[in-house]
Amino acid sequence: MNRPLVIGNWKMNLDYVEAVHLIQQIGVVLKNKPLEHVELVVVPPFVDIRSVTSVVDSERVAIEVGAQHANVHEAGAHTGEVSVSMLERLNVKWVLVGHSERRAMYAMTDEIVAQTLRTVVRQGLAAVLCVGEELSIRETEGHNDFVTTQLHAALEGLDERWRPLVTIAYEPVWAIGTGLTATTEQVREMTEHIRTVAASLSLGEARVLYGGSVNAENATALMSEGRVDGFLVGGASLKAESFLTIGQAANDCYDGKR
Ligand code: PGA
Repeated sequence: MNRPLVIGNWKMNLDYVEAVHLIQQIGVVLKNKPLEHVELVVVPPFVDIRSVTSVVDSERVAIEVGAQHANVHEAGAHTGEVSVSMLERLNVKWVLVGHSERRAMYAMTDEIVAQTLRTVVRQGLAAVLCVGEELSIRETEGHNDFVTTQLHAALEGLDERWRPLVTIAYEPVWAIGTGLTATTEQVREMTEHIRTVAASLSLGEARVLYGGSVNAENATALMSEGRVDGFLVGGASLKAESFLTIGQAANDCYDGKR
């Protein structure tokens, strides 16, 4: 089993004052009750990153900071965008690539996803490649093929050097922010499918996460029965208590306590 990874995607929530408050709360809880086995990451909006990393550094919070997106280009005339090297200067270690909200609302095609992933890993940052089908595809049993296509489009031909920097997050679109979590069986089947496809692309070691309405109540079952290596958490990452309860569940599953 890979070491668990639990990522909190704050999306477009929390201004920098609220973000500082949340990371401080997380820090206090982690000081009293460290999560021995789990790698924790928070992914704030761009404008909060500097404030969050300042707290993480000064208060030595055992957490890394990620970004929700980065521009596919390295620099230049791209008004409103943020580059990977800018993120790296802020000590960002992770970047989400191809989140379904970016794909659906901001025209992120498979091709741009593939190029962005390369821009991220070339800079030495870890990429969390998000894949997952819409409900209509699941209803017609097309989910495995759909995810295979997304994985191939993003990962085929990726230089060997960069492969250890890739994590895959399975996020069925119909489960994101809807309260409709995939069943543990659906998660296990897809996790196994993704591991097979990843192995065929020589990425057999990549961690596979699940995301989509993960919360403090369902995390243990999703982790142990769904056989994932961790979670990409949206809504439930906006409160220290629920985020860290999910982290604790991942920790205990790894430890064999659950
Ligand atoms: P959710 O979001 O946990 O609020 O469903 C997950 C995600 O989009 O990463």
